[in-house]
Amino acid sequence: PQPVAQAPKAPALPDAQTVTFVKHWTDRLFSFRCTRPASLRFRSGEFVMIGLMGDNGRPLLRAYSIASPSWDEELEFYSIKVQDGPLTSRLQNIQVGDEIILRPKPVGTLVHDAILPGKRLWFFATGTGFAPFASLLRDPQTFEDYDEVIITHTCREVGELTYGADLIESIRTDEMLVELIGEENLAKLRYYPTTTREESAKMGRITDLLRSGEVFSDLGIEPINPDTDRAMVCGNLAFNLEIKELLEGFGLREGANSEPKEYVVEKAFVD
Ligand code: A2P
Repeated sequence: PQPVAQAPKAPALPDAQTVTFVKHWTDRLFSFRCTRPASLRFRSGEFVMIGLMGDNGRPLLRAYSIASPSWDEELEFYSIKVQDGPLTSRLQNIQVGDEIILRPKPVGTLVHDAILPGKRLWFFATGTGFAPFASLLRDPQTFEDYDEVIITHTCREVGELTYGADLIESIRTDEMLVELIGEENLAKLRYYPTTTREESAKMGRITDLLRSGEVFSDLGIEPINPDTDRAMVCGNLAFNLEIKELLEGFGLREGANSEPKEYVVEKAFVD
């Protein structure tokens, strides 16, 4: 008899994790959760490479900030949907029970280790740049190390603020989170959302509001000062460059894991 050719067995997805939750926030934004590899340790604010198997049989991976805190038993990600994006055009269709690829090698500079001790910590985000701060804001260390924690988030439209707004609300009201972070620590949290292309309570780019001093008068605080203020920045490229210049103008210097200083920057996911 003719030997029957054995169909090659499909290789198991490398570093596969299972999707446990998906939520679509707008037609441009979604978040999802997946299982966490038992061996994965990371510092809140870090990113990993995640993705799907490409049509060519090779993994198609992109850098994504982990939006969940380091103590969470699952992992959360917050993503843009780009209709012709190689990864996000497909990733936006994932469902609970699907598998994604996750390389368990966390890296990044938006970590407490990369900035010197201070009194006031600023998180400056645009769009999906909120993700690393969604992690850091659920980490008690963020509040223990500072007297005040200010998160600014600038988006085009009001609907794009919802993921962040809901997260802030949950930190303030979810019993488990309140207990973990502590009522006293939560009093240190200030949230300053702004929109640029749709009417909202506060309009304008955060860069312009810093330049004019409006953000300081709105919050009733002193301007940024290198003796007291520390900052982490995550947004689109043009925003990052502009805010770096502003922070340098206030006298803050860019730090790194190997050399902590007054501020750190990372590019938000683009695809
Ligand atoms: P704008 O609507 O004025 O461009 P995007 O969705 O394109 O990544 O933008 C997210 C937010 O970041 C938008 O509100 C956008 O404002 C704002 N933004 C874009 N570039 C800059 C910049 N150079 N400085 C400050 N904010 C910016």
